[in-house]
Parts: sequence; C-alpha cells; structure tokens
Amino acid sequence: MKRPITRILFLSLVLGTLAFTSLNGVGSENNGSRLQKEGVEEPAKNPIFRLILSGHLDGKLEPCGCASAQSGGLDRRAFWLKAHQAEFDLALEGGNYIHEANPLEKEKFMTTLMVLGATLHYPVLPLGARDLSMGIQELLDFHEAFGPPFLASDVYKKTKAGLVALFGQSYRVVKHPKAKILVLSIAGKEGWKVPKDLRVLPAEEAVQKTLQAAKKESFDLVLCFVHSGGAEAATRLAKLAPGLDLVVSVDGSHEAKTEPRSIPRKNGHTSYVLFPGSEGRYLLKADLLKTGGSWKLLKLHKIQVPALRPKIPGTLPPGTDPETHRLLRQLKVQITKSDLLEKMAERVDPKGGHYVGTQACASCHKDAQAAWQKSHHAKAFETLLRRAKEEKVWNPARHPDCVICHSVGYGERSGFRSQEQTPDLMGVGCEACHGPSSQHVQFWRKWKKKKAPREDAKKAKTPKQARVACYTCHTFEQSPGFDFEERWKKIQHK
Ligand code: HEC
Ligand code: HEC
Ligand code: HEC
Ligand code: HEC
Repeated sequence: MKRPITRILFLSLVLGTLAFTSLNGVGSENNGSRLQKEGVEEPAKNPIFRLILSGHLDGKLEPCGCASAQSGGLDRRAFWLKAHQAEFDLALEGGNYIHEANPLEKEKFMTTLMVLGATLHYPVLPLGARDLSMGIQELLDFHEAFGPPFLASDVYKKTKAGLVALFGQSYRVVKHPKAKILVLSIAGKEGWKVPKDLRVLPAEEAVQKTLQAAKKESFDLVLCFVHSGGAEAATRLAKLAPGLDLVVSVDGSHEAKTEPRSIPRKNGHTSYVLFPGSEGRYLLKADLLKTGGSWKLLKLHKIQVPALRPKIPGTLPPGTDPETHRLLRQLKVQITKSDLLEKMAERVDPKGGHYVGTQACASCHKDAQAAWQKSHHAKAFETLLRRAKEEKVWNPARHPDCVICHSVGYGERSGFRSQEQTPDLMGVGCEACHGPSSQHVQFWRKWKKKKAPREDAKKAKTPKQARVACYTCHTFEQSPGFDFEERWKKIQHK
C-alpha cells in the first residue's frame, strides 16, 4: 500500500519527455525541437500573435465538485487547448503551482509537471517562491531529468566565482514563427525561507542583470512573470524596468482581467501588466501586433475553463481531455491508497485546547445537538463516503483535499485523522465552527460538580468566532453566493 508514488510518477514523467514536441509549433531553445509544426506556414497569414496566459494554479488541479458550475481543471484546459489550436499561437503558465510545500502538494506538483510539460508541452515553467520552497535539490533533479526548463530570474546560487543563476540560465528564449520571446520570472521572497546558499535579488536588479545576460540572444518580445507582491509589485516593476513588454502578475488577482494596466515608456512604446487570474479557472488570451518595432496589445480575452460534472460519476465528462483526466485520476487513486491522509493530519497545534468530538457536547447542549443532527453538516462525511462508492477507484474520504472541509480540525494535532481513528470528528461537527473546546468542556464539568467558580467561565469560552468560521469552508468556489444571514437560518441553534 505505501508505495513510493513519487518514484513511479517520476518515471512516467521522464518517459513522457521522449514524446516532447511542442504544442503549436513552439520550440524552446533547450529542447531542440523543431520550430515549425508540419502544416504551419511561415510567414503566418495572420500577423497577430495570440498568446495564452495563466498562472497561480495553487494546487487546484481540478475543482472539488461541491457546487455546480465550477471552473478550472487541467483536464478541461488540456481539452480546450487541443481543440482550439487554431485560435492561439502559444501558451505560457506562471508558477506557484502548489498551495504550500507539503507531501501532498509535492505529489500534485509532479502530476502538474506531467500535464503541463509532457502532455501540453508548455515550453518553460516559471517557479514562484512556494514552488521553490519545496526544496532546491529536488527541483534541480527534475530540472535535469525533464524537458521544460524551470525558470527563476531572481534566484542565484552563491559560489566562490560569484552568483550563478539557479537553473543555469536566468531567462529562456521561446521561439515562435511570429515572435521570439525572452521569458523572465520573478519568484520573490514571500512565503519562502531562502536557503543560506541562495540569494534572491530585488526584482528590478534581477531584471537588469538578466537583460544584460541575454544581450547576445535574439528576441523581439520580453515577458516577465511576477509571483509576489500582487498587482502593485508587478506594476512597479513594469515602470522601473524599461524593456519589459509584458508583465504578468501571477498573484495579482483571483479573476482574470480583460483590462491591462498600460504603462507608457519614454521611447513611445507601451508596457502592459496583465492579470490572468488564478487556480486555472481562466485562460487569458492576449492578441498582440508588432508595429514599428514594438508590440501593441489589441485585445484581451478571458476564456473560462468550464468544469462540467459527468452524468455518471467516474466517467469522462464532456469537454475533458482523456489522457489528462487519466493522469489526474491516477493521482487521486495513489493519494487515497497511500498514507498521505494520516501524514498530513498533524501539522499544527490547535489554538485554545484540543478537539474532544461532537458527542462530548451533547450532554449539556441537547437543543443544539438536535438541531445539528438534522443539518447537512452532520452528514458531510457521509457525503464523501457516498461519493467514494460512486467513484469506485478513488476515495474522497481519504483525500486530504476533501476531508479538510468535511470533518473537524483536519490538519491540526488532535483533529480528524481518519474514519477509523477519529469517528467522532467526521462531518462538520460543533468544533468545526466553535473551535477545539477541551477547556470549555473541562470547566463546565467541574462547575457542575461545584469544583469551579462561575466567575472563571470567561476563561473557558469556546475559542472560535463561529460566525466567521463559515467562510473557511463556504468559499466562493464551494458555495458561490454564500450569505450568512440566509444560511444561518437553516442551521440555527442555541
Ligand atoms: C458540562 C457541560 C457542557 C459541555 C460538555 C459543553 N458545554 Fe458548552 N456551555 C455550557 C454552559 C453551562 C454554557 C453557558 C455559558 C454561559 O451561560 O455563560 C455553555 C456555553 C457554550 C457556548 C456559548 C459561549 C461560549 O462559551 O463560547 C458555546 C458556543 C458552547 N457552549 C459550545 C460547546 C461545544 C462546542 C461543546 C462540545 C465540544 C460544549 N459546549 C460542551 C456547558 C457545557
Ligand atoms: C473549502 C472547503 C471544501 C473542500 C476543500 C471540499 N468541500 Fe465539498 N463542500 C463544501 C461546502 C461548503 C459544501 C456545501 C456547499 C453548499 O451547499 O453551499 C460542499 C458540498 C459538497 C458536496 C455536495 C453535497 C450535497 O449533497 O449537496 C459534495 C458531493 C462534496 N462537497 C464533495 C467534496 C469532494 C469530493 C471534495 C474533494 C475533492 C470536497 N468536497 C472538498 C466544502 C468543501
Ligand atoms: C456550522 C457552524 C456551527 C456548527 C457546526 C455548530 N455551531 Fe453552534 N453556533 C454557530 C454560530 C454561528 C452560532 C451563533 C454565534 C453568534 O451568534 O455569534 C452558534 C451558537 C451556539 C451556541 C449559543 C451561543 C450563544 O452565545 O448563545 C451554542 C451553545 C452552540 N452554538 C453549541 C453548538 C453545539 C453543541 C454544536 C454541535 C452539536 C454546534 N454548536 C455546532 C455555529 C455552529
Ligand atoms: C468545516 C467546514 C464548514 C464550516 C466551518 C461551515 N460549513 Fe456549512 N457546510 C459544509 C459542508 C461540507 C457542507 C455540505 C454538507 C453535505 O451535504 O455533505 C455544508 C453545508 C451547509 C449548509 C447546507 C446547504 C444549504 O445551503 O442548504 C448550510 C445551510 C451551511 N453549510 C451553513 C453554514 C454556516 C451558516 C456556517 C457558519 C456558521 C457554516 N456552514 C460553516 C462545511 C462547512
């Protein structure tokens, strides 16, 4: 059962690169593939360079399926890209592929690489600070074994001979018949403990150093991904570092924006800051035209990647790429057959005591207990078990990404671990909203036996503000349009 799934994925990943040829006739200098795809004529009939952008996948390889009409999913993206090859010229993705560095996200990262690299042939993979925080050696191993090169223009190794770009080169040139693109990427320091032997340069300095290093290259469009500091940092960089035609703000907005920020430059040209949104829910298509030595952004299109639920669970939904779907499914099978659920269970200490389970509240709060028992919250774990039966091959009740909102305190020591070990923490129990309540229970039990003074009750309040807790699970993705007043009526209790 506890197979090292990393190894297996890694192998398929390497094999996948044997078939490495680029989508839409694009070649990165590094993989040596031909620039021209058969049947594509040069010079192109349509001079407009149509670039597809996305980024900040944030571990959302596919939507959770909690609500209808969700967007995103690498399998839908793969379908869209393959089906609409005639409508764009090149697709590039920004980094922060993972949500945070942990064993689960590492597995997801590898599948992401397989999809973006070996299946969709993205020519370069910029990395954000979160990706880098997974561990440089591991990334370097990947980098050596695997086709699409990683990129971090601001991260350098300190050596005796001076600073050396982390992945050998601080830029990549992606060549397309319509444009030769110099790609840069700023990871930043946010959310990352930079190892001692590395140095992260300030964004502006990194761009200048990189443009200097790329002097001998031939390119006619400069694009820079910025992974930290939000829209403001991306805009500042576009203003301060002349020479960047497009700055892609990877963490700048959740929604893809069809309005760029335009920044006029001294030489009469314009730099554009673009916001492709996050979590793979959109692809942002930029139509660019080269006029008089510079690029004019004609139009931005926001392409929503719709996620349709299959009519029959476990079957291929319409608009889904079978190959990618298979990879995503294989990952879920491997995750839920491994011990990742338990491994991921105890990462942080809960604040305000430990979890005691829903049953522990019943004796003193009969009415609340009765109201809760009737609510959907009481059945939230059964929902996962039901889904497991439908899915057959993988088990949402063993997937950390599902369990986190369908149980109590998952991820915290003393919180949910598994169906077998912590049955009283299954479902959205009392403490999911009120917080870990051991101290509260201890106090009132003592008080009942007249062993504690009532004045001390203040210290034994349940630790969480229950009203606010809703939004940790009822996010816009899981509960579009969640309204507290309206929903609270359905589960009200005292
Ligand atoms: C031994 C009896 C007892 C148990 C067990 C108990 N409570 Fe209470 N709880 C009380 C009493 C008594 C109050 C009323 C406090 C007051 O009037 O100031 C209270 C108040 C509360 C309140 C409102 C004020 C506050 O402290 O935040 C919440 C919420 C609450 N309990 C949740 C829980 C939860 C959740 C559990 C189970 C983990 C639980 N209680 C278990 C006796 C108990
Ligand atoms: C961020 C929290 C969160 C995560 C993560 C999450 N869920 Fe949910 N889930 C919810 C919420 C909240 C609802 C209720 C939505 C509503 O009705 O507004 C829900 C509802 C559902 C429902 C519909 C229940 C019904 O019968 O109507 C299913 C099925 C479901 N989730 C399965 C899953 C699966 C499978 C996963 C993992 C892939 C998952 N959830 C991950 C929060 C989450
Ligand atoms: C989905 C979240 C949620 C769950 C689950 C939940 N509660 Fe509550 N609870 C609330 C909210 C919100 C309030 C109202 C708090 C407020 O008005 O600020 C509340 C109020 C209470 C109060 C009254 C507090 C007061 O100030 O009068 C008690 C007691 C209580 N809950 C106990 C429980 C018990 C026991 C359970 C489990 C059987 C439970 N709750 C489950 C969200 C929840
Ligand atoms: C720990 C995660 C979590 C928290 C916190 C949470 N919910 Fe839920 N909620 C869920 C899940 C999961 C479901 C779906 C349960 C199912 O059907 O499987 C759900 C379902 C519901 C439903 C039933 C769906 C519907 O609209 O009829 C209501 C109402 C609801 N939640 C209200 C609230 C309110 C109000 C709060 C805050 C006081 C809250 N929830 C806090 C996870 C959570």
